[in-house]
Parts: sequence; C-alpha cells; structure tokens
Amino acid sequence: MQYSSFPKRYLHTTIGFMKKTPHNLKGKTTSDQKWLVRQLNDPYVKASRVHNYRCRSAFKLLEIVDKYSILKPGDNVIDCGAAPGAWSQIAVQRVNSAGANAELPRGTVVGIDLLNIAPLDGAHFLSSHDVTDPVTHARLQELLPNAKADVILSDMAPNASGFKDMDHEKLITMCLSLVDLSEKILQPGGSLVCKYWDGFLAHTLQNRLSAVFESVRSLKPKASRKESAEKYFLGKMYKKIK
Ligand SMILES: C[S@@+](CC[C@H](N)C(=O)[O-])C[C@H]1O[C@@H](n2cnc3c(N)ncnc32)[C@H](O)[C@@H]1O
Repeated sequence: MQYSSFPKRYLHTTIGFMKKTPHNLKGKTTSDQKWLVRQLNDPYVKASRVHNYRCRSAFKLLEIVDKYSILKPGDNVIDCGAAPGAWSQIAVQRVNSAGANAELPRGTVVGIDLLNIAPLDGAHFLSSHDVTDPVTHARLQELLPNAKADVILSDMAPNASGFKDMDHEKLITMCLSLVDLSEKILQPGGSLVCKYWDGFLAHTLQNRLSAVFESVRSLKPKASRKESAEKYFLGKMYKKIK
C-alpha cells in the first residue's frame, strides 16, 4: 500500500472545530496538558493506532520511502534509534524480512537503540546499544549478510536539553558518525536517511554527505510537526571512495 497520499485520504477535515480535550487533567503540569491535548487531536496518532504502528513517526518514513523509492524487497537495513520500533515495522514490511511474501527476496532489518525495543517478527534488535560505539558496529557486521547494508535509517535524537544550539550540535555530531558508519558498512549505491535539527551546522553535515553520496536532499515530511526544527537528509547512491 502506498501512503504518499495518506493525508488526503485519511485525515479528517473537521478536526479543527471538533478539538477534543482530555479528562483528568488535574495535577498535570501545563506542558503535560498541552502534550495530552495535542496527542488526542493528532490525526497521525489516530492513524498509527488504526495501522498498528508503534508510533506516529511511521508516517514520516512512509512518505520518504514512497516518494524516493527506497527500501526494496531483499534490502539489508540498519535502523538507528529504533525504539519503540515503528520505522522497523515499515522496514520489515518493505524489505520482506519476515518472509511475508515467499516469492520476493527476503531482506534483513537490524534496529539499534539505547533503550529496550520490544521484539518484532522480521527484525533483529540491539537494545541497550549505542549507535556511535565501535562495539555496536562490530555486532552489526556480524548480523548483516556479507557485513553490508543497502540502507541506513536514523530517526535518532538525543534527549533535548532545551538549549537549541547545543541540542542541534549534538544531533549533527551523531549524524556525522553515521557518515563514518556508511563508509564502513554501506554498499556502493546505498542510501542514508537521517534526522537532524535545523541550525548553524546543517551545511557542514550536508557538505559531508555530498562528498559520499551522488544526491543529497533535505526533507520535511508532512507528518513532521511544522513547529519542530526536525528535518531529514536523504543521501542516495553512496559512492565508494576508498
Ligand atoms: C524519535 S525516537 C525514534 C523513533 C523510531 N524511529 C520509531 O519509529 O519508533 C529516537 C530514539 O533515538 C534513540 N537514541 C538516541 N541516541 C542514541 C544512540 N547514541 N544510540 C542509539 N539510539 C539512540 C533514543 O533512545 C530514542 O529511542
């Protein structure tokens, strides 16, 4: 099923004037109350329940993979910052790693997170692992066929400190470590999708990506909240340089 037209087909146009307010807000902080109201009225949260996705971010990845044709049956995929597992759910479906379609090649999905990730058929999870740690890279190479990946996905984000520039810099550093990981593990022609928070170092990351990928574009999926600085870089056609 293609989801690129998801907002038109699934979103309720009357949501604006039917805004719901949660019960039992007593004792909650103002920011908790705002979060609850936003969750209750978010069409992507509702749609995630309908489609059984572990969280709404599934729709960000669906938009990217449908529009830019990444994740094919048989692909070997690394999902960085995978918890709770919605991106891995999409990857499993698209690369056929659970073998749902016996006629198509069967891919591999390896998800990594500092947190625990509940098991998912078709995915191998490295819970309590840091993506930037060389020990994790060695485990990845053991788990991937021929120690190589076709696609690296990253929705990773550090815990926000509230200091915008500092958080931005921290996430860019994490993304730069993914370029190093690509150089170790990505097949020539492979792709990388990585989340970043926009800011003064975005160009540094873009330049580094452009040195190793034939095409690099910055994306803001519809499911990504407008008020968020969150964006994604998509690098396609990894060029093996060494
Ligand atoms: C926004 S969530 C990812 C949601 C996920 N894409 C999904 O669809 O379920 C970001 C995750 O990045 C993880 N993370 C942050 N830094 C990490 C690191 N250095 N190594 C592994 N995971 C990390 C966090 O623990 C968090 O679970």
